[in-house]
Amino acid sequence: MRLSINQRSARVGIVQIHEMFRVLELDAGDVAEPKQSHAPSLSRDTFVFPQTSIRAVEKDLAIVVPCMNEDPDILDGVLRGIPNDCLVILVSNRNLANFEVESKMLELICTTNERKCIHIHQKDPGVAEAFMSAGLSALVEPQDGAHSVRSGKGEAMMIGTALAKVAHRCFIGFVDADNLVPGAVNEYCKVYAAGLHYALYQTGTEDPHAMVRIKWNSKPKVRDGKIVFEKFGRSSRATNYWMNRLLTTLTTASADIDTDTDIDIDHNLDFASDTGEHAMTLDLALTVPFASGYAVEPHQYVHCFSTLSKGERPVQILQIETRNPHVHDCGKGDGHIKRMQAGGLSTIYHSPLAPKELKAEMRGFCKSQLGEVCSVDGEPEECVVYPCLQDMDWEVFKKVLEEKVEAVKSL
Ligand code: GDD
Repeated sequence: MRLSINQRSARVGIVQIHEMFRVLELDAGDVAEPKQSHAPSLSRDTFVFPQTSIRAVEKDLAIVVPCMNEDPDILDGVLRGIPNDCLVILVSNRNLANFEVESKMLELICTTNERKCIHIHQKDPGVAEAFMSAGLSALVEPQDGAHSVRSGKGEAMMIGTALAKVAHRCFIGFVDADNLVPGAVNEYCKVYAAGLHYALYQTGTEDPHAMVRIKWNSKPKVRDGKIVFEKFGRSSRATNYWMNRLLTTLTTASADIDTDTDIDIDHNLDFASDTGEHAMTLDLALTVPFASGYAVEPHQYVHCFSTLSKGERPVQILQIETRNPHVHDCGKGDGHIKRMQAGGLSTIYHSPLAPKELKAEMRGFCKSQLGEVCSVDGEPEECVVYPCLQDMDWEVFKKVLEEKVEAVKSL
């Protein structure tokens, strides 16, 4: 793989966000590993990743696929797009009959393709018991006389992250189950591997946490019988706009902002703040508290900006634009988009970094655009943020999981 490298970046405290990198070649041929770790191969502005570097990360990478009632044929394509060396963790939240269908499909893929997968149901009482026993009861709710993990995409991602830790993986990536193009899924995983490799070994930062966020090349829609390759989805457009506004206000030392964070932002940086497709070092995923539902991705940014401080490990965030278009199930309705937007904006609105002038503007936007899913004065409901996974008792978690959950017994 060959990426274009961008030297521009923004810095908020210990977090460095790089301006967009781009995939220049999906397959850059047979190149040797660069001799010095900090010497980009070939040219200053591009970087070629040998297969060996990509494979080295993939062998340690768990790909979590959160899945809520997606078409099994589409899910099948997603699973087959994930590189063989990655561990697949499918976290499903659907009725038991369909769960059986998914299980059989996954088993077939694992057997014929000789690979490792874990399939888990979000509502498995054994999973809930493991989290409760390990000290993370906030993630769990009573259900039919027992307990289960709460519904939501963020909650599914937490289960996947915990399983990746139990399976001793160092990296974790997320891929939605409704992607219609297996080749795009494959590209995302390769980009995760290349990006993590770059962030860890080529940025000159000692022992960083690393995160890679995908910026889709386009999100095609059909309009008047023609395919239109739009650059942003409706939800991303709004979340990215307000995230950029938040970051811009940080540079203009507002009296409202109670922070001693050291900030260096280029106002023109382009942020991919709500991308569902992203990857990170597992220890970062264990440190960043997950927000519920669809607030999960923007919350990662807001958390990193407002909470991590000097003395902690630096965080390198790469944003990489892929080549494949992102074609997914976009028929989930207007209400779905609005709820997703409200979740994302809520993390920005309720951030301690958001000054009151920005909040007032956001209320105006929410009142006019998201009336049904916000309060009458336009305030987005504060989302639930769970305690971070790192603080769980991992020995207890593993023991209960192994006793109660069939799917993890082979780990
Ligand atoms: N296990 C589980 N449990 N999976 C869930 C749940 C849940 O409660 N809710 C949603 N999912 C799964 C879906 O099945 C899908 O695979 C993935 O999470 C994303 O959910 P969608 O409902 O398809 O989201 P979207 O495609 O509209 O939005 C995506 O892109 C946004 C950016 O534009 C998501 O990835 C968002 O998180 C992202 O912000």
